[in-house]
Amino acid sequence: MLQGKRALVTGAASGIGRATAIRFAAEGATVTIGDRNAAGLNETAAMMASPPVIQPFDAMDNASCQQLVAVAAADGLDIVCNISGILKWGRSETFSLDDYAQVMQVNANSVFTIIQAALPHLIKTKGNVVSTASAAGLIGIPYSIAYVASKHAVVGLTKSLALEFASVGVRFNAIAPGQVNTPMTMETAFPEGVDYALLMRNAPKLLDGSCEPSDVAELFAFLASSKASKITGAIMAIDGGQVAG
Ligand SMILES: NC(=O)c1ccc[n+]([C@@H]2O[C@H](COP(=O)([O-])OP(=O)(O)OC[C@H]3O[C@@H](n4cnc5c(N)ncnc54)[C@H](O)[C@@H]3O)[C@@H](O)[C@H]2O)c1
Repeated sequence: MLQGKRALVTGAASGIGRATAIRFAAEGATVTIGDRNAAGLNETAAMMASPPVIQPFDAMDNASCQQLVAVAAADGLDIVCNISGILKWGRSETFSLDDYAQVMQVNANSVFTIIQAALPHLIKTKGNVVSTASAAGLIGIPYSIAYVASKHAVVGLTKSLALEFASVGVRFNAIAPGQVNTPMTMETAFPEGVDYALLMRNAPKLLDGSCEPSDVAELFAFLASSKASKITGAIMAIDGGQVAG
């Protein structure tokens, strides 16, 4: 499905990014993998069907994001998958402004930095971008103010870029996963003293509705491929009905 395509996958040291890098290589893509976790990138590389270009980067640092794109685009670039992300919970009265800025930088600002650096290459190849929003980009969720704001930003920038670059054939889409079994969700404790029922009111509805990273990787591969050539500006939920109502 992705034979001969040159792809950049961020967040590839773990979870959804790792599964996507593995899937893209299996589909025939040449992949550059980026993450701040260099050891995790090496582990991912060992799981891929063909050796990737490994480029550690820090989404907190815009110059590092631009350098990542320069490496990934050395021989041209067709696809960018923005998957790096962080989650911080907390009551809004006491949520630290430093944490707020960090979540916005990693989850949203770095996504735009990477896209902006990739644009000249994607315009040449009529390429596409698939970014990672979240159910938290489509609905409000209590006790996760920065995360929700950052994922709504991903939704907004995806739709706006889709409009701005439609006439030159560059597509922009985002995936909105619900509950996915990755270190992010399994290792992040809920904040204390919260209304748990309020927090969980948008849990998956579907029987067995929580996802594995490979379920989400499947959607990345589809949206990035020519099978999705008519899809741009879409925010695709994969959430077992979490945001259905
Ligand atoms: N797991 C879920 O339930 C879920 C739901 C909706 C959306 N998402 C989104 O999916 C994406 C992947 O998350 P995941 O669940 O696979 O989590 P994960 O923690 O397994 O993977 C996130 C990756 O991002 C990397 N990363 C974090 N900060 C970075 C930085 N400053 N620079 C570079 N890389 C950095 C981490 O090292 C890690 O490899 C994120 O954008 C997340 O917000 C996850």
